[in-house]
Amino acid sequence: MSMLEVKNLKKVYTTRFGGNKVTALSNVNFTVERGEYVAIMGESGSGKTTLLNILAALDKPTEGEVILEGDSLNKVNDKALAAFRRERLGFVFQEFNLLDNFSVRDNIYLPLVLAGQKHGEMAKKIDPIAKKLGIFELLEKYPYEISGGQKQRVAVARAIITKPDILLADEPTGALDSGSTDELLRLFRSINEEGQSILMVTHSVKAASTAGRVLFIKDGVVYHQLYRANMGTEEFYKKISDSLTALVGSGEQ
Ligand SMILES: Nc1ncnc2c1ncn2[C@@H]1O[C@H](COP(=O)(O)OP(=O)(O)OP(=O)(O)O)[C@@H](O)[C@H]1O
Ligand SMILES: [Mg+2]
Repeated sequence: MSMLEVKNLKKVYTTRFGGNKVTALSNVNFTVERGEYVAIMGESGSGKTTLLNILAALDKPTEGEVILEGDSLNKVNDKALAAFRRERLGFVFQEFNLLDNFSVRDNIYLPLVLAGQKHGEMAKKIDPIAKKLGIFELLEKYPYEISGGQKQRVAVARAIITKPDILLADEPTGALDSGSTDELLRLFRSINEEGQSILMVTHSVKAASTAGRVLFIKDGVVYHQLYRANMGTEEFYKKISDSLTALVGSGEQ
């Protein structure tokens, strides 16, 4: 059984005033096996965030379903969904979604607090993660006192501190300089090598080239897929880059 199965997923947004409808996803199909590291690429507005939100059960599809270890999320009740999110899932939001009146430390602790962990247990976990992400010195600050790239790394720390089975990350290197990007990609690799599955939306070929597979989304469908197989990072980088050129180019005259 696949860990995750996405079947005929469709999402149509209806705007608030009932006017135009936007089809963000028209028919998305793919599966993810346990322990995979998958990058998702596609142009701005191609539905990547929409897809992640549906995978995290933060939003509902218009049609189709997400099957997690054999259970359709459509059929799971809200309480079970909340438990799934809390216990199995880490989510790095594109907009970070940090709480401004919580310190950096308390933001990172939040999922552990929600899981009912003791303070001593939490304290042991935060330091190594904060050090790896280069935010150890910032733990007593508040989100409005730190930079965008620092916020992004705090959001990553919050998502991984529970060691989730599945990490969903929306553009997690978008606000980072190249040094912090490399550090974060190394961290993702090591997390994945420990068996956690990762789905990462990214515009960065470099970031995507560290994954084991890349899905390209266009016109609301998975338009193309690339497997790393036994390619080295450089060769995979080149393949992804070529696919991206073809993907963008084919929509234009
Ligand atoms: N809540 C919403 N209501 C209406 N339309 C929406 C909503 N959220 C997204 N959309 C539209 O759905 C489409 C897909 O948006 P989405 O945010 O999933 O794109 P994306 O691939 O994540 O883009 P980006 O790379 O810029 O983050 C866009 O046309 C967007 O304008
Ligand atoms: Mg997005």
